[in-house]
Amino acid sequence: MGSFAVLPRFPAILLGLATSVLAATSTCSVDSINALLAATEGARVLEAHQISSNGTFGQVGDIAYPSNATNLPPLCLTWVNVTSSPTSSYTFGLMLPDNDWNGRFLAVGNGGFSGGVNWIEMGVGARYGFATMSTDTGHNSTGQDMSWALGRPEAKKDWAGRSLHGSTVLAKKIIEGYYSGTALQRSYYSGCSTGGRQGIKSAQDYPEDFDGILAGAPAWWSTRQQLWQLKVGAINLPEDSLGYIPPVMFGAISDQVLQQCDGSDGIVDGIIMDPTKCNLRLEKLLCTPAHAGNSSTCLAEAQLQTLQQLYLPLIDLDADVHKLEYLYPSFGVGSEQQMPASFGQNNAPSLYGTEYAAKYVFDDAAWDWRRDFGAATFAAADRLDPGDVNAVHHDLSAFHARGGKLLTYHGHADGLIPPGASRLLHDRTYAAMAARGVALDGFYRLFFVPGMQHCGGGVYDAPWFFGGGGQATTLTDLASQDVWPLPGFQDGEHDILRALVEWVEEDKAPQRIVATKFKNDTIAQGVLRQRPICKYPEQAQYVGNGDINIAANWECAL
Ligand SMILES: *[C@@H]1O[C@H](CO)[C@@H](O)[C@H](O)[C@H]1NC(C)=O
Ligand SMILES: *[C@@H]1O[C@H](CO)[C@@H](O)[C@H](O)[C@H]1NC(C)=O
Ligand SMILES: *[C@@H]1O[C@H](CO)[C@@H](O)[C@H](O)[C@H]1NC(C)=O
Ligand SMILES: *[C@@H]1O[C@H](CO)[C@@H](O)[C@H](O)[C@H]1NC(C)=O
Ligand SMILES: *[C@@H]1O[C@H](CO)[C@@H](O)[C@H](O)[C@H]1NC(C)=O
Ligand SMILES: *[C@@H]1O[C@H](CO)[C@@H](O)[C@H](O)[C@H]1NC(C)=O
Repeated sequence: MGSFAVLPRFPAILLGLATSVLAATSTCSVDSINALLAATEGARVLEAHQISSNGTFGQVGDIAYPSNATNLPPLCLTWVNVTSSPTSSYTFGLMLPDNDWNGRFLAVGNGGFSGGVNWIEMGVGARYGFATMSTDTGHNSTGQDMSWALGRPEAKKDWAGRSLHGSTVLAKKIIEGYYSGTALQRSYYSGCSTGGRQGIKSAQDYPEDFDGILAGAPAWWSTRQQLWQLKVGAINLPEDSLGYIPPVMFGAISDQVLQQCDGSDGIVDGIIMDPTKCNLRLEKLLCTPAHAGNSSTCLAEAQLQTLQQLYLPLIDLDADVHKLEYLYPSFGVGSEQQMPASFGQNNAPSLYGTEYAAKYVFDDAAWDWRRDFGAATFAAADRLDPGDVNAVHHDLSAFHARGGKLLTYHGHADGLIPPGASRLLHDRTYAAMAARGVALDGFYRLFFVPGMQHCGGGVYDAPWFFGGGGQATTLTDLASQDVWPLPGFQDGEHDILRALVEWVEEDKAPQRIVATKFKNDTIAQGVLRQRPICKYPEQAQYVGNGDINIAANWECAL
C-alpha cells in the first residue's frame, strides 16, 4: 500500500495535531448518497443529513438502542434500506465525519437478539474519526425478544451474518464515493457478545470485509450458548423447590468466593486473577447453627447442590457412554454477581434460552422447555443451525492470508457468556491453524479480564475500561462531557481498538493493554486503579514493590 504512508497517523489526528485533513467531496443528501449506490439493486437511502459540531442523533422507534449518540463531530448521517430477499430487508446507519475523517471504516456490532441500528455506539466510532456503520440486523426488537424470527428463515439469515456483510460492502461503496480522491485505507470491526459473534463470523466467512476485528465475549457457538442459558436457568427451578437459590443470595455467594480465591495469586486486592488456581470449597456456604436461623447469607444443602451444578461444564448424558460429549463450559469462578442475569423470571429460564429455542431454532411457538428440552436438544439445534448462525468454521486461513488481525477479550466475571467459551474458541482455532502450519499468535490474540463482567463493568472495583465494544457508553457521565474514550490515555497501551489499529498498520502486536477503573465509573471522579490485562495464557503478576493500583507495577508473564 504505497499511498498509505501519506495518511496521517491515527493518534496525531485524534490529538488534533494533524495538519492535513481528509474532507468530504460529495454532498450529504438522499439523492447524492443514492447516486453513490446507483448500480446496487435493492438498496435505497432513507435519510441523509448533516449533523453539526457537538450534535446529537437518535431514531424514534429504535427500541433496541433508544439512547441518542451525543457529542458528535460534524458529519453526514445516512440511513439505508437493503432488500435481502423477497421476504426480508435490513437497514444500516452510516456516519461520515466531515473534515476529520481518519481514512478508516469501522463497523460496530449488536447485542443479544436486538434489532436496531446502534447509533450510540456509532457515535463513539465517529469521535475517533472513523466512518462508522451499524446495521439493525434485519429486524426491530429488544434484546430478549425473538418473535421476529418465527417462520422467517430469511430474517434469521440476516441476523446470523448476511446483514453485517451486506452493510459492510455497501458502506464501503458509499465511503469510496463520498470522499472521492481519498481511498479508504483500512476497515475495522468492534463488537461484544452477539457483536463478538458477528466479528468472529466475519473473520471466518467474510475474510475480505475487515483488516482488524475486535470481538469481545463472543456468543460464537450460538446454539450451545443459548441452550446452556436455558439449562442453567432450569437447574435453579422451580422456585418453590428446596434447591432454589433466589437471585438476592448471589451477592453473599460472590463475597464467599472472593474471600476464598482473591489471594490465590498472592495479592488480596478484590481481583481473582486466575479462577482456575482457586481450590473453591462451596460447602463453606452451608448454613450451620452459627447462622442462628438467619439464612440470608448461607445455603441449605439442596441449594448447595444447585450451586455446585452451576460450575460444572455441560456433558451430554444421552450420548454413548464411550463418547460422552462435552457440550459447553459453564460459569466461571468469580462470575456469581452476574449469574442471576442468566436466569429467567416467573418460574421459567431466561428468555435468552426459551425464546431462542422456540422461535429461532425450532420455529414452534408451542415449544415448551418443560416438555421438549433435553440433552438431545443441543444436537438437534446444531444440526438445524438456522441461518448458519454458529461461528464454527475455525479455519481462518483466508483471513490470515489477507493480513487480518483478530483481537478477542472476555471478562472472568462474565455471568452471561462463560469465559471458557472464549478459551474453547481460541483452542479450536489454534488447532485448525496449527494443522495448516500457521501460528495463531501472529494474528489472533485473547485477553482475559479479571473481575470484568459481561463486556464491561467490574466486580469489587476491578479495572475494566479499555475501549472495548459498548464500554464507552457504559461510563455514567460520558454523555455529558466533551471527552471521549480513555481521556488522557488515548493510545494503544490503554485502548484496545487503537491497539488493533497499530497491530494492523504498524505490525505492533499487543502484549498487554492497561485497563482502567474510574471511581464510581465516573470519568469526572478520576482514576481509582489501573492494571494490565495480558494475552492468554499470560497473566498480570505483581513486580513485588510499589502501589498495586498502578499498572507499571505489574508485568505479563506465564
Ligand atoms: C455539547 O452539547 C452539550 C449538550 O447540549 C452541552 O451541555 C455542552 O456544553 C456542549 N459542549 C460544547 C463544547 O459546546
Ligand atoms: C435525540 O436526537 C433527536 C434528533 O435525532 C432529537 O430530536 C432529540 O431531541 C434528541 N433527544 C435527546 C434526549 O437529546
Ligand atoms: C419497532 O417496533 C415498535 C413496536 O414494538 C414500534 O413502536 C417502532 O416504531 C418500530 N421501529 C421501527 C424502526 O420500525
Ligand atoms: C425496506 O424495504 C423493504 C422492502 O424490501 C420494506 O418492506 C421495508 O418496510 C423497508 N424498511 C424501511 C425502514 O423503510
Ligand atoms: C442476617 O444476616 C444479614 C447479613 O449478614 C444481616 O444484614 C441481617 O441483619 C441478619 N438478620 C438477622 C435477623 O440476624
Ligand atoms: C455514582 O454514580 C451514580 C450514577 O451516576 C450516582 O447516582 C451516584 O451518586 C454516584 N456516587 C458517588 C459517590 O458519586
